[in-house]
Amino acid sequence: MKKAVRLVITGNPGVGKHTSARIVAKKLKAEIIDINKIALDKGTVLEKTTKGIEVDTKKLGKVILDMLNKDNRRNNFVLVGHLAPYIVKPASIDMVAVLRRSPQRLEETLLERKYPREKVNENVSAEILGISLYDSIKAFGKRKVAEFDTTGKIPEQTAEEVIATLQKEKPRRSGSIDWLAVISEEEVQRFFVYK
Ligand SMILES: Nc1ncnc2c1ncn2[C@@H]1O[C@H](COP(=O)(O)OP(=O)(O)OP(=O)(O)O)[C@@H](O)[C@H]1O
Ligand SMILES: [Mg+2]
Repeated sequence: MKKAVRLVITGNPGVGKHTSARIVAKKLKAEIIDINKIALDKGTVLEKTTKGIEVDTKKLGKVILDMLNKDNRRNNFVLVGHLAPYIVKPASIDMVAVLRRSPQRLEETLLERKYPREKVNENVSAEILGISLYDSIKAFGKRKVAEFDTTGKIPEQTAEEVIATLQKEKPRRSGSIDWLAVISEEEVQRFFVYK
């Protein structure tokens, strides 16, 4: 029998979580659980601002925990969203894939989405500092967290890499991506200095 998966795909907005998750879920015949969608459907949104939605993470965490516990079918899922480290408990999860993307490519993606400069900078600087990875390790423990660089790859490649890592029983790897080493002084000014 095929082994069930309890996978989280997280990372900063725009790194490619949903696109990869759809492919991973299809290949593994797993269900996608979209944290953003549940947040909106279950009334856990506190406020909608120009920067996005502000969520009651405690309430959302409880909704998701109930969902995972209550329904026995829910042991084969790909849980997707940047809020995962703040709402999901490690006991419910086997592996956490943190998707990363170079600051330059992430800036392009977010500008294509017509995000205002302030929101682009907020997300790109968070990616440079590796906040999503740091928070995932803090929440789930280092052994469950693996990071994947999506820069210059197509979504299918990222999905394959995630599945290959998931199927290895070894501890996961993270911490080798260092965007600070690949950005120029001019980019530091652009992404971190708020005018
Ligand atoms: N290797 C890759 N893996 C996944 N997506 C990629 C990859 N390369 C490019 N993309 C593209 O990146 C864009 C952003 O992807 P997506 O919308 O899935 O991001 P997201 O992380 O779900 O964002 P959000 O958190 O805002 O929902 C898409 O246009 C997608 O096709
Ligand atoms: Mg998305």
